[in-house]
Amino acid sequence: MKYSPASEAPLAVVTGASGALGAAINARLREHGWKTIATYRTRPPHSGERAVSDTTWVHFDTAVDASADALRDAVETHAGCLRAVFACVGAPSTKRAVADTPVAEFEAVHQANVLSLVRTWHALAHRARRDNASVLAVGSDAGRAARARNGPYSTAKAALESLVSTLAKEEQPHGVRVNLLAPSLIDSPLAQQVMSLKGVTDPESYYRELPWARPLSLDEVAAVCIDIATTPQWAYATGQTYPLGAAL
Ligand SMILES: NC(=O)c1ccc[n+]([C@@H]2O[C@H](COP(=O)([O-])OP(=O)(O)OC[C@H]3O[C@@H](n4cnc5c(N)ncnc54)[C@H](OP(=O)(O)O)[C@@H]3O)[C@@H](O)[C@H]2O)c1
Repeated sequence: MKYSPASEAPLAVVTGASGALGAAINARLREHGWKTIATYRTRPPHSGERAVSDTTWVHFDTAVDASADALRDAVETHAGCLRAVFACVGAPSTKRAVADTPVAEFEAVHQANVLSLVRTWHALAHRARRDNASVLAVGSDAGRAARARNGPYSTAKAALESLVSTLAKEEQPHGVRVNLLAPSLIDSPLAQQVMSLKGVTDPESYYRELPWARPLSLDEVAAVCIDIATTPQWAYATGQTYPLGAAL
């Protein structure tokens, strides 16, 4: 759905928008006339990158208590109706066996993938309830696949699925929907990093072994996220996990 007069533009929050998928969601929303508040941890994208202008950037780090306050303050200064929240913060594991993975890595990966949504909700619950917002969190097929040598990430994404299910039950009486998209491999810098940790030296031949002989594209995943969170045909759905892959 496109919104043209700025006065009618709905508001969305995209956490982890300095990352590849968050940036793609932010760009699509901006192109369709949404106002967006986007978070980064390391640095906001350079001006000139896709849809950076006209986005309000907020520093957000799940390890920092003040992050929730900064995000809440940014949303409160916007008069528009908060229609959607896209929770895209995530971090991978180092692809070691559980026996070889430090506890600190489990904690850091859990913090990024799970506690990021807890902090986001502490910041946004009040406004999301007032405006009947819809929340779309980005999980991963890893949450259910639980493959060897991916313990911190798999357990964190499984916990995120449980958190989404809990939030959906708690927030339904307030008119808020909460769902999870669980995609498989996306063509992105994170996927390149993960393949390198797995010792993949030829990504193209790795891709040829995937169903459809390719990874997902960022734009197709971004479009699905926005569809589930914002279009009327999904208005009944809450507390759901939607895999986006190929069960072959
Ligand atoms: N790429 C894939 O193949 C794939 C597949 C399935 C699911 N996913 C999931 O999709 C989501 C987005 O993936 P992506 O490819 O866009 O990853 P990405 O490019 O690495 O982006 C990750 C984002 O999370 C932020 N972040 C990381 N740790 C954080 C923390 N502790 N506090 C606050 N922000 C933090 C990063 O901020 P800075 O960069 O500013 O530090 C960045 O904005 C993730 O949840 C990922 O697990 C990805």
